[in-house]
This record gives sequence, structure tokens and C-alpha cells, in this order.
Amino acid sequence: MRDFSSFFLMSTEDVRRYAVEVLHRFAPDEETECREIGDGNINYVFQVRSLLDGHSVIVKQADRLLRSSGRPLDLYRNKIEARILQLEGELAPGYVPEVYYYDEAMAATSMEDVSSCRNLRKELMENRVYSHLSEGISSFLADTLLPTTDLVLDAEEKKQRVRFFTNPELCKITEDLVLTEPYYDYKGRNIITAGNEAFVRTFLYEDEALLAAVASLRLNFMNNAQALLHGDLHSGSIFINEQELKVLDPEFAFYGPMGYDIGNVIGNLFFAWANKAFTCPEQETVINALAQSIAEIWDKTGEKLALRYDELVTFPLYRTPAFRKAWLDSVMADSAGYAGTEIIRRTVGDSKVMELNSVTDLTLKLPMERALIKLGIALIKQRKSFRRGRDLTDLFRLILA
Ligand SMILES: Nc1ncnc2c1ncn2[C@@H]1O[C@H](COP(=O)(O)OP(=O)(O)OP(=O)(O)O)[C@@H](O)[C@H]1O
Ligand SMILES: [Mg+2]
Repeated sequence: MRDFSSFFLMSTEDVRRYAVEVLHRFAPDEETECREIGDGNINYVFQVRSLLDGHSVIVKQADRLLRSSGRPLDLYRNKIEARILQLEGELAPGYVPEVYYYDEAMAATSMEDVSSCRNLRKELMENRVYSHLSEGISSFLADTLLPTTDLVLDAEEKKQRVRFFTNPELCKITEDLVLTEPYYDYKGRNIITAGNEAFVRTFLYEDEALLAAVASLRLNFMNNAQALLHGDLHSGSIFINEQELKVLDPEFAFYGPMGYDIGNVIGNLFFAWANKAFTCPEQETVINALAQSIAEIWDKTGEKLALRYDELVTFPLYRTPAFRKAWLDSVMADSAGYAGTEIIRRTVGDSKVMELNSVTDLTLKLPMERALIKLGIALIKQRKSFRRGRDLTDLFRLILA
């Protein structure tokens, strides 16, 4: 039998043994079952569960090759993921799975099983909108982002973290798929629903004012090492139940603009809204609850960032009211902009979401996609003009009218 001292891709049987011999989470003679529960494109996620008392552990192993396409991808992402989960666990206790063990040789992170929570994207598809979502995710955002900036962190420590969390291969995926190809399809990877090609050409590929705004957001993503980001905070990375909210899968983490995380959360919630507006407009209560959630996330994140700022930022120059306001305003402007780029990339790029894929009736799908693209464009171009969450939701209501 192989030992676990050097990398190999584990089978369920290997992981069962690993959970005993390396993790010591189960007694050697304890009956356990192991399943691969991953549904993503990138890694392998295993759950090992005791048949005696049901206690369990998650082992997430990265491979040198992507699970879906077989393309190579740097294993270092797993080290980044384990480390940021630990940091986030300290900054926002309870909002991420507890890391039990990071195994560099095996590129495997062992962590708390949060199966009592469910994938937010799927919950919203099933019309389950949680009223505590805005409270939880805004706390997570404010508590994990602001304390990792130069406004709070020691400058040397910050630079060491920037170095540790430099994540070029995963950032390149975002730079291409989110911040380039939807506007300039140089790899020919966009997937545009037949019937919307001319719309995409006119409004995404040929609008110079939009291209200039996206260029600015792209360079900001690449150069503004503002805070330690999750980097892929879409609604499928958020798990929720009546009591709890957990954020998973931060392997795209790096030092970047905070608005990228905030915008990702907000952008993805608009897919749930768009899906319902076109496929089940009679679900008014659910749609209104979703709109309220989006507006609250914007408002509460802004408020909590301001509160955290006053608590944590002590350097006199940064406490100057005019600087503070300009800084907070620029974070929220970025958030609107990146909500826009996320909405557009999921609609025309190759990483679709189930809210779009599940709609096959073209008489619904074409106008739904156009509404989302219009929303994305307005969020990008008008990103500096949104003052409160209602401004964003009013904008979408106007587009849908
Ligand atoms: N700690 C956990 N507790 C319970 N389930 C988990 C946990 N971590 C991951 N999962 C399950 O495994 C799935 C895949 O996990 P994750 O998104 O981390 O993998 P990934 O391969 O990085 O995915 P992606 O391709 O989206 O990047 C999750 O959607 C979730 O259902
Ligand atoms: Mg992932």
C-alpha cells in the first residue's frame, strides 16, 4: 500500500485510509464510508463519514490537472486555499469551514464538513431566500477584507502576504474569462445564444466607452493589491441554512481590489432574480425578497466597512474624513463595476450558471440575457453613481419593465 509522503491522486479507498492514518479522525477499526462529493471543475472533494456515530471530515485534494478538462494548473492553489481559510476563520469566526490539516505533499486540505448548509445558488433556484443572507455575507465581507489592507495591517506583514498569495495562474483565468474575452473574444471561447450575436457585437464588442471602463477595471484587478480576496465569491461558493452561512472554495485568493469580492456576490444574485423574472414572474414574494437581499447586501457591506474603518484604522492620515470617504466610495464603485463584469461574463462567456443554462425556451432566454447584459453594462459605466442598494435594484426593475 502506498504511503502518503509524496503526491498521488487519491481514490476513495486511499482517502478512507488517509483519514485514519494521517488525520487520525477515525479509529483504525472504525467502519467508515468515503464518497467523492465534488461537483466543481477543478479539484476532488471527498467526504469520509463514520458509520458508528456519523462524524465526518472533508478532504479536498488538488491535482496537477484540472478535474474537468485535464489542463494543467499549479498545485500551489491548494496551499493558498488552506492558508486563507485559516486567516478568514480568525477574522470571521464561523463563516468558513475549520481547517484541520493542510498536507503540502498530498496537496490536500482536510476540513470541517459543512454539509448541514446547502449551496446558495441551488437554494435560490428552489425559491428559498434566506433573510439572514445579507447580515451574514456583509459581515463576512467587511470582517475579512478591511483588516487585510494597508490601512490596518503592518506594512511588512502585508507585503509578505502579497508575496505568499501571489496566484498568477488562477488570476490569469479571471483576467481572461472575466475581464477580457466577453469584450474581446480573442480566444474564440465566448458562447453566445443564437439570436443574440448582433446584440453582443454592438453593445459589448463595439462600445468604446464600455471597453475603456472595462480596461480600467481589468488593470485595477491586476494592480490594486488592496485586500486579501476570496477571488471567486459566487453564490455556488456560499453555503447556507436557517442558522448558518459558510463560504467555501477560496483557491482564487490573492491581493486585489475588495470590490471584486463584493461585486461577485451581488452580481450572482441578479441571476436568480433574472431567472425568476422570466420563468416564474408570478413568484413576486420571492423576487421581492431577492431584490431586498441584494439592496441590503450593498447597504450593510458599506455600513460595516465604515464601522470597521473607524474601529481599526488608526494612522492619522487615513483618518482624514475626506480620504476615508473617497476610499470607501471607491470600494463601492469597484463593487458595482465588478458586479457588472461578473454578470456579463457568465452570460456571454464559457462559464455559465444554472440560472441561465436551465432556461431553454429561446423566447425567454434571449430577452433574459439581454436584460442581464444591459444591467451589467449600466453597472460598469455608472459604477461611481450608486449611493444605496436600492439604486441597483431600481436599475434592474427599470430594465425589466
Ligand atoms: N467543507 C465542506 N463541507 C461540505 N461540503 C463541501 C465542503 N467543501 C466542498 N464541499 C462540496 O464539494 C463541492 C465542490 O467543492 P469546491 O467548490 O470547493 O471544489 P472545486 O473543485 O474547487 O470547485 P470549482 O470548480 O467550483 O472551483 C461543493 O460545492 C460542496 O458541495
Ligand atoms: Mg474551486
